[in-house]
This record gives sequence, structure tokens and C-alpha cells, in this order.
Amino acid sequence: MPRILLTGAAGRVGTAITPLLRDAGWSLRLLDLRQPPAASAEDEVVLASATDQVAMTEAARGADLLVHLAGFPEERAWADLVGVNLESVRVALEAAREAAVPVTVIASSGHAVGATPADEAGTALLPPRPDSYYGVVKVAGEALAQLYADRFGMRVVSARIVAFDERPRTARALSVWLSPADLVRLLLAAPDARPGHVVVWGVSANTRGVVSLEAGRALGYHPRDDAEAYAGLVAAELGYASAADVPPLGSAPLGGDWADPAKPLGRRW
Ligand SMILES: NC(=O)c1ccc[n+]([C@@H]2O[C@H](COP(=O)([O-])OP(=O)(O)OC[C@H]3O[C@@H](n4cnc5c(N)ncnc54)[C@H](O)[C@@H]3O)[C@@H](O)[C@H]2O)c1
Repeated sequence: MPRILLTGAAGRVGTAITPLLRDAGWSLRLLDLRQPPAASAEDEVVLASATDQVAMTEAARGADLLVHLAGFPEERAWADLVGVNLESVRVALEAAREAAVPVTVIASSGHAVGATPADEAGTALLPPRPDSYYGVVKVAGEALAQLYADRFGMRVVSARIVAFDERPRTARALSVWLSPADLVRLLLAAPDARPGHVVVWGVSANTRGVVSLEAGRALGYHPRDDAEAYAGLVAAELGYASAADVPPLGSAPLGGDWADPAKPLGRRW
């Protein structure tokens, strides 16, 4: 049975995908600072920091796939983002190298390019245009992934996850939602990655989609879920008469209100 090391397994994303990965036949090693609520008796649990090189390398031994989710999912003080989010990416890549894990997936984010107007986002790969310190650190994480792929011949996938949720809940999410099942499809495609580093969008096959799924398709990621199935519900919740009345993103920033100049850098809001 192939084994996956999942960091940040106790978080929102990790908790949602743990049962799906198990059902897909993976043996799970779940690493977090706290007990992952979705862990079952058959899973291995490692309570450690993803910034602890010794613990991470030990946890990576024997893994066929390392998926690095651990970190803060929001804007924080610069020192916290660099000390946890960025440092843990470096440690995860180093662990994968030392333990010879064949493929590593790093959770990047749409906020790496969140200041890009949505109607300019459809090209295959967007250059860095972060909307926050959080986004800058995700850009730097992608750069670390590139460095490790080039320097050591590793296979690394940076997944720019956007609006991960059981279902879309906002007008923006109708364009950039990622379902748990599609994230698992992306992760299960990763073991076929060629040597090198690839950046793919972690986004579902949304009718109102604004980012390119081309690089993901080349990897073998074929999303099946579509936020449009929930558009009527989202419209009703937001007070629109129908799904057709929910405005498209247009030239609004891809990162939504994260790109709002009124949001302070380096503080949670
Ligand atoms: N939720 C989204 O829509 C979204 C979008 C883009 C990217 N991401 C990325 O996906 C990842 C997971 O996000 P989430 O929404 O599940 O966040 P979350 O806060 O719910 O979960 C993160 C988990 O990481 C753990 N963690 C934090 N620091 C740690 C450390 N030093 N060592 C070990 N574990 C540590 C926390 O305990 C937590 O369980 C993050 O990297 C985030 O940036 C999420």
C-alpha cells in the first residue's frame, strides 16, 4: 500500500481529505502539532512541528508521497510566516531529499498571485503578484521548490490552492472553488510528475473558472467538480434573485478582499 506523509493533517484541508485518501487506498502518516481529528486506528500519527528537521526526516522515511499543508492559512506577522510557513517548506523539501521521497506536493496559494486582476489570470502560469505577506511567503515557497527540483533532480508540485471548501459559499468561490475530492484527484496525479518543479492550480472545473487548468491536466489532474452546481444556492444565500445575477469576478483581484489596500499587512483580519 503506498504511504503518504501529510503535514498539517489536523487542519481544515487535512481533516477533509484524510478519509478520502484512506478510501483511495493510501496508508496515512499524519503529522501535526495536535491530534488530527480524522485519524483512525489504522493511521500513524506524528505529533511534531513541521519545522523540526529531525522529526520531519524521520516521518518522511518510507513515504511515497509527501504532502505539505502545515502552516498558517492567513495573513500574520512577517516573522511568523517566515518562521513557520516558509521554514517548514524548506524543512519538508530537505526531509523529502534526505529520505528519498519520490514526489513532494507543497500547498501554495492563489494569494501568491492574488493581486492579479481575475480577467488577466487565464494564462498558463502567472508570475508572482502577491496580495499579502502570506502571498509573498507562498511565492518564496514555490521558489524553494524550484531550487530543490533543479539542484537535486527532485519531483515537486506546487499546488496553488484556492477557496478550498466542501462547497462554494461566495461569488468569488463560484470561480475559484476547490472541492476536497478534486484536491485528492490532484494529489493522486502527483506521483506521475516528471522530474522538476511544476506549479498547478488547485481549482475545480468551475464553469466560471478564471485560471488555467492546463498545467494540472499535463500532470494528469482532471477535476470533476463544478461550483456551478451550487450557484443557485450561493445566489440565494447572498440575496441575488438567481445564479445569473451573481456578478462575474471581472477585473477584481484574484485574491478577493486580501488585495484590498485597507487590509493591513502582517496582521490577521
Ligand atoms: N483553506 C484554503 O482555502 C487554502 C487556500 C490556499 C492554500 N491553503 C494552504 O493549505 C494549507 C492548509 O490550510 P488549512 O486551511 O487546512 O489551514 P489550518 O489552519 O486549518 O490547518 C493548518 C494545520 O497546520 C498545523 N500547523 C501549524 N503550524 C505547524 C507546525 N509548525 N508544525 C506542524 N503543524 C503545524 C496546524 O496545527 C493546523 O492543523 C496551508 O498551507 C494553507 O496556506 C489553504
